[in-house]
Parts: sequence; structure tokens; C-alpha cells
Amino acid sequence: MKKMLNIALPKGRLGEKVYAMFETAGFPCPEILEESRKLIFENHALLLRYFWVKPSDVAIYVERGAADIGVCGKDILLEYEPDVYELLDLKMGKCIMAVAAKTGFIDNPQRTLKIATKFSHIAQQYYNAKGRDIDIIHLNGSIEIAPILGLSDVIVDIVETGKTLQENDLAVMETVVPISARLIANKSAFKFKGEQIESIAAKLAAITEAEK
Ligand code: PRP
Repeated sequence: MKKMLNIALPKGRLGEKVYAMFETAGFPCPEILEESRKLIFENHALLLRYFWVKPSDVAIYVERGAADIGVCGKDILLEYEPDVYELLDLKMGKCIMAVAAKTGFIDNPQRTLKIATKFSHIAQQYYNAKGRDIDIIHLNGSIEIAPILGLSDVIVDIVETGKTLQENDLAVMETVVPISARLIANKSAFKFKGEQIESIAAKLAAITEAEK
């Protein structure tokens, strides 16, 4: 007998778009759209259980098997390197991971570069590859303030519309990597619920192809 498939969605704007894509693909759960504080929703007929989690926690649920599949940003996969399968680029939630600084900042390669970021691992790898001496200051949010107050020289952060940078007199210096939402799967669930997971992945893939 088939079991319920647990799907972790990132709570927030991206999550709503992602759910809409699952619905279009034939995996609806209308209750999810009702205004409420509920976090778990089930479609018994289709054996689906959706739940909203913090975007940066999706990969934890999937890696540990509390969710069979989930959707999270490539930024999270690069930063935490969770032991999951990355099945599909959903081509939504597109943005870039970038190095940004105060407008007019000129880097002196002889000096240690001070970097404020939520993405310490990504920043470390990026500058290791360049052989650059850096000092990482790990922050949890509002990263843009760091160079303004002199806490850091630059930031490594997500840039979507560029509005946050612009409104704080910062500018992109370099693109580190393009980011988008990815469908991920728990490794053992992919073995035991493979048929269900592959059918969802194939239908979502068909939508991303059609939207190209
Ligand atoms: C992200 C990122 C930037 C902003 C970029 O922040 O850290 O601050 O979005 O978007 P924009 O280019 O469209 O202005 P998020 O909303 O995730 O909040 P946080 O970093 O403060 O947690």
C-alpha cells in the first residue's frame, strides 16, 4: 500500500508560487490557500501532506527524512551541503549570490578583505578559489548595514531586484553564483517512494520546460 508523501514547502512568497506549481502539476491541496495559521495540510485522496517550514529549514527536514521531498533555494544547498538528492531546477525564485560594497569601494588585494554574510561557507569557498585572504563576519540578517557602519568591507548576499542594495547606497561588485529554487528528495525516500516522487518531478519538469 502506498504511503503519504511528505512535502516541505518554504513558507512565504516563494512557497506560495511553488505550491501553485504543484497544483498546476496535478497535486492540489486547496485547504492550503485558506487564511489560517495552520502549517500542515493533507490531501488524503492523493496521499499528499504539505507543510510550511522556514525556507532555510527545508533541507533539514528532507535530509532527516521528516519530509520526503521539498523545495529550497540553491543558496541553502550550497551553504549547508545537505545529503539529499537535487532533482530539479524549478526555474523560479531566481536571484544571484553577489559580492556587494558601498558605491565607489575600491578593493586593495594586499589587505585582508572583511566580509559580512549569512553565507559563510559560500563566501569562504568563493575566496579560497581566488586565493584571497579574508575575514568572515557571520551575521543573521540585515547584512547590508555592515559596510555602511564599517563592520565589513563587502557583503556576500542574495540580490533579487537590487532594491535593498540601491536604497542603502551599495552596488554589486561580482556575481558569485546564480540561484533558483530546487526540488530536493530524501535519499531513502527516493528508494522507497520513488514512483510517487518521480511522477511529481516529471510533471513539475514538464511545467518548467513549457514555461521556458
Ligand atoms: C534578502 C537578502 C537581501 C534582499 C535582497 O533578504 O538578504 O536583503 O533579500 O532582495 P532585493 O534585491 O529584491 O532587494 P531577506 O528578505 O531574505 O531577509 P534577511 O536577509 O534580512 O533575512
